[in-house]
Amino acid sequence: MPNDPDAEARRVFLERGGPVLVEGPVEVVLDDGTVVRSDRFAVALCTCRRSRTYPWCDTSHRRREQRGPEERAPVEGDRPDRR
Ligand code: FES
Repeated sequence: MPNDPDAEARRVFLERGGPVLVEGPVEVVLDDGTVVRSDRFAVALCTCRRSRTYPWCDTSHRRREQRGPEERAPVEGDRPDRR
């Protein structure tokens, strides 16, 4: 692929434990050679492979995240030293 020095760089945002956000429109080539396209302004690409709409992120990555006790929201009845 030739590089065009005047071409604007595509910006990609990495989210820890989540999708890769890409400025659209994008074409994604899947491992079986299928090409899918999105014309959206920004596209979330699944990196966890749990999405039912793969390669697009459907937020399924959130369901299996384990929160540590320090990240858990306080619950009524929690001891103050545990909040
Ligand atoms: S990264 Fe969101 S569903 Fe996979």
